[in-house]
Amino acid sequence: MLDTSGAGLHKRGYRIEQGEAPLKETLAAALVKLSRWSPERPFVDPFTGSGTIAIEAALIGQNIAPGFNREFLAEEWPIIQPATWDQVREEAESLANYDQPLDILGTDIDHRMIKIASENSMEAGLGDLVTFKQMQVRDFTTDKQYGVIVGNPPYGERLSDRKAVELMYKEMGEVFSNYPTWSKYFLTSYEEFEQAYGTPATKRRKLFNGFIKTDYYQYWEKDLLEIRE
Ligand SMILES: C[S@@+](CC[C@H](N)C(=O)[O-])C[C@H]1O[C@@H](n2cnc3c(N)ncnc32)[C@H](O)[C@@H]1O
Repeated sequence: MLDTSGAGLHKRGYRIEQGEAPLKETLAAALVKLSRWSPERPFVDPFTGSGTIAIEAALIGQNIAPGFNREFLAEEWPIIQPATWDQVREEAESLANYDQPLDILGTDIDHRMIKIASENSMEAGLGDLVTFKQMQVRDFTTDKQYGVIVGNPPYGERLSDRKAVELMYKEMGEVFSNYPTWSKYFLTSYEEFEQAYGTPATKRRKLFNGFIKTDYYQYWEKDLLEIRE
């Protein structure tokens, strides 16, 4: 067996700091892909933490190669010429669409996370392409239509946290029901999420967040629901 990567492939190289329960970058990218978001639509991560989901959305939105910011172990192998690496990096660079405008917002209740998320986004070379701001999820408001929300809220795994998390899920259900044209996606291990949120999901998908068994609760936008019905 040969290891061509060195550090795990989920390590993209932009996360200089992180919060308590960061998602692997690869899982964050998968959540964005599963949401069927396209770059002309607004995108919001209301529990942004270290910004992983919002940053991955921006990379996907501008078609930036996920490994552009890191090195690979195989770069030290004499069998692969440095020119080959330069060539594939140039190829990836030419495929990026830096002119693609994006409307991506990451919010979090914790202002320290907002600072970390902004720094990580800078490190990823995204400048101010992604907006980060401190906000509680229950204060979410927008006049935009057809956006996509992808969130990785706290799971309430400690018994003492369950009540607070349940209340927050209820507030999420109330606030997001005001935006029927938006699609909403939430990853949590909390098994009674739908009861607390107040609406059954359009679709659920089982996913592992590391060793934690979670569900990806999907609430599709109004038009998609009508097509399905
Ligand atoms: C599981 S972490 C998200 C981790 C993030 N996906 C990452 O990769 O770093 C959950 C985040 O939700 C935030 N949070 C907790 N309660 C909140 C609330 N009521 N409104 C908004 N954010 C909240 C926490 O500060 C924490 O950063």
